[in-house]
Amino acid sequence: MKFNTKVIHGGQKPDPAYGSVMPPIYQTTTFAQTSPGVHKGYAYSRTHNPTRNALENAFAALENGNFGLAFGSGLAAIDAVVKILKPGDEVIATNDLYGGTYRLFTKIFEPFGIKFHFIGMKNAANIESYINPNTKLIWVETPTNPLLQIIDIKAIAVIAKKHHVLFAVDNTFATPYLQQPLNLGADIVMHSATKYLGGHSDVVMGALVVKDKELADKLYFIQNASGAISGPQDSFLVLRGIKTLHVRMQRHCENGKAVATYLAAHSKIEKVYWPGFNTHQNHDIAKAQMKDFGGMLSFTTKGNNYDETIKIVEKLKLFTLGESLGGVESLAGHPASMTHASIPKEEREKIGVVDSLIRLSVGIEDEADLIADLKQALE
Ligand SMILES: Cc1ncc(COP(=O)(O)O)c(C=O)c1O
Repeated sequence: MKFNTKVIHGGQKPDPAYGSVMPPIYQTTTFAQTSPGVHKGYAYSRTHNPTRNALENAFAALENGNFGLAFGSGLAAIDAVVKILKPGDEVIATNDLYGGTYRLFTKIFEPFGIKFHFIGMKNAANIESYINPNTKLIWVETPTNPLLQIIDIKAIAVIAKKHHVLFAVDNTFATPYLQQPLNLGADIVMHSATKYLGGHSDVVMGALVVKDKELADKLYFIQNASGAISGPQDSFLVLRGIKTLHVRMQRHCENGKAVATYLAAHSKIEKVYWPGFNTHQNHDIAKAQMKDFGGMLSFTTKGNNYDETIKIVEKLKLFTLGESLGGVESLAGHPASMTHASIPKEEREKIGVVDSLIRLSVGIEDEADLIADLKQALE
């Protein structure tokens, strides 16, 4: 089945009760049993729920995996992966990472004795010198948030396999429409489904997809034991969002390209971070592992002035100033004071998250209106 068909039919079949094409919202905590332990496959909704299972099957189909899991947020999904580890284990993670992931790793898991190395991965070979017998997980975001670095998934998968280390990719920015990390050798793919998969800025949710049964069983155990599941109503909404993922992503990519090209030619702009430019450091890897370049981009203005930058984001009218990304509407963010405020200033500036950096999630509106909005805000 081709991807554009999978988003509509992948892992889906009409509900067995009445044949409804969309799965009903099974808004129930529990299921009747005819005798203790005798039921129709569902006992309690933390463990299994038919609406959530329909979505989990769709997640698995989209990412070409065998097992999907839906969580109450992207961070809950990441939390479940790290819970596979034990004290003394080490993780190698991208140094340009969503701020909340960094906070979860350093503030929650480090005190429990898990050690994290945050390193640059633009050159995949960098990883090897950090691997030791305690290394159990490599965590990668690509494109990275907010600097749109591209990391070579295939090259890292080779290193991970050689050292028997689990390899997880946060595929939130790219979505399975643009890249499928399991096909490139990753063991786990993770999403903040809050973003493009949901697509309408109305649900907070996380997803994991894996191929391996033993790994899936560990994660299902943690999902049930820790309990951070997605509810039936939210599962239904994300399932509905997924049905248009391909058409939304196509427009996100077109508009992203138009906005990036406009900004790159503007006299006030210092740098535009977008993997579609052939001057982007890892443009060739982006071209090889992604179908297109997505709707996310960041830019800095000349002078790196904090107050000027705040004025620009305040003046935007169509681009709503807000956290999050991946919805149909365009959003702008100021990482230094918003999404990445939890990373110490010295740390974030070292990697390029400076005061004048603005991140755009380019939506699917008319590109001329989006460009006109940026023009008036910049001028
Ligand atoms: C790349 C990335 N990963 C993970 C998350 C966390 O997801 P959630 O907000 O759904 O918990 C986010 C949220 O912005 C994100 O951008």
